[in-house]
Parts: sequence; structure tokens; C-alpha cells
Amino acid sequence: MRLTLTSFAALRARDEPIVMLTCYDASFAALTEAAGVEILLVGDSLGMVMQGHDTTLPVTLTDIVYHTQCVVRGAQRAMVLADLPFGAYQASREQAFQSAVQLMAAGAQAVKLEGGQVMAETIRFLVDRGVPVCAHLGLTPQSVHQLGGYKVQGRDDAAAKTLLDDARAVEQAGAQMLVLEMIPAALSKQVTTALAIPTIGIGAGIDCSGQVLVLQDMLDIYPGKKARFVRNFMTEGGSIRDGIRRYVEAVKAKTFPTAAHTY
Ligand code: KIV
Repeated sequence: MRLTLTSFAALRARDEPIVMLTCYDASFAALTEAAGVEILLVGDSLGMVMQGHDTTLPVTLTDIVYHTQCVVRGAQRAMVLADLPFGAYQASREQAFQSAVQLMAAGAQAVKLEGGQVMAETIRFLVDRGVPVCAHLGLTPQSVHQLGGYKVQGRDDAAAKTLLDDARAVEQAGAQMLVLEMIPAALSKQVTTALAIPTIGIGAGIDCSGQVLVLQDMLDIYPGKKARFVRNFMTEGGSIRDGIRRYVEAVKAKTFPTAAHTY
């Protein structure tokens, strides 16, 4: 039986960090699962690391369906979490449901979407119809042009309060997990303490319930600019398999991220 979003409440309750990593194909799905990764995120980051775009915006629902099918074929137990791409869920809650159906039919156990209070009604609509949802706050890459670039979010008091309100809203709407991207560690600690659902950080400090990185970043094979929160596990490990195993160990042992990876 595969892990599902409900599986991770227990890990959070016993303060055991949750290990998520992006994954886009069957071979890496098998390898990352064998290394102990618990959640394989078919992220729309594939637009950048697989397709060579500058942003995640050109990624289509068809792209995510295809990569979800590939990942599902490669792993037996890890939960497969699929991103709802830009334009596939913002128009209406009905559009979001139709898109989520395609991802679940492709084999995903849950879908991820970006946005807080503005997405609460959509999250409730999906959850009430059997679609498990992970929300995503902080730096939301689908809004990169609105945010003015890939910048740390939630730095001032007003922005931090909005983020905390957003986090409470998505939890109340039924989201069972929350990704926090590029926010100050103190804020992610505040959010994690305020919520009952697990938080998964990427550039959000050590006090989240788990961590996620983009596979090509942590293997240091993405040619683009590397963010401060990325650690190169490949040179440490010497092989892809060992690098991913070290990532899992570091997240579980809470030795990653350190202050050097934190805002
Ligand atoms: O698409 C993605 O890889 C993501 C992570 C950055 C969390 O959403």
C-alpha cells in the first residue's frame, strides 16, 4: 500500500522529519524510493530542470500527467504528489477539480497548488470531492513575475502576518500538508507551531516538519543559478545513489538545512 497524505500526520506527531524530493521519471523514482524518500513530488520545476524554460509557467497539465505516470511506474510505496500547473486550477474550482482528476487518474495520491486565502474555497471543493491537497506558500514560483523574481518572502511584519493567515486558511479549508518556500526560518517555525498539519520546507529552515529539494539542484546538475538553500549532496556522496541516501539521512537527522541554507 502506498503512503498517502494521512500517513504523514503520525510522523509529524512523533517529530520525525518527512523526506520529500522532486522526481520526474521512473528510474529516479525507483532509486529515490530505495534511498528512503517518502514523497516524490512531480513538481512543475520540471519546466526548468527538464524542459529548459526560465520559469515554471509554460508547464502544461499534459506534461505533469505524463511525468506522474512515469514516476508512478517506478515506485511502489512512496507517495506521488503532483503539481497543478499554472493555468490549470486558478480559473474556477470546477477547473481545479477536472485537472486534479487527471493527476489522480495518472496515479498521484495528492495534488499541490500554490496560494493561500484566495485558494481556500478551491481547496475545500477538492477535498470534499476526495482529492487530497498539499498547499504551497511563501515564494510561489507560478507568481514569479508578480513577486518580481525569486526572492525571500514574508520578511516584514505585514507579509509575515499575511503568510500566517494564509497558512491557517489552507489548513482550515482541508489541506493536509503545506510546502513553505524561501521564507525566514523564524516565520516557518511560527507557522509550523500554529498548524496541526505537517509543513515541508525548501529554504525555510530546520523547524518545518520535513524538507524538499529539487533533484537536479541537490545533485548539482542544473546549470542555472543555485539558491542559498541548496546543498550539493552529489559531491558529498560520490554517486547519485549515495548522494540521495545522504540527503535522506541528513533530513531525518535534522542536520540539513543548517544556518548556511537558511534566511
Ligand atoms: O515544483 C517544484 O519542484 C516545487 C518545489 C520547489 C517545492 O514546487
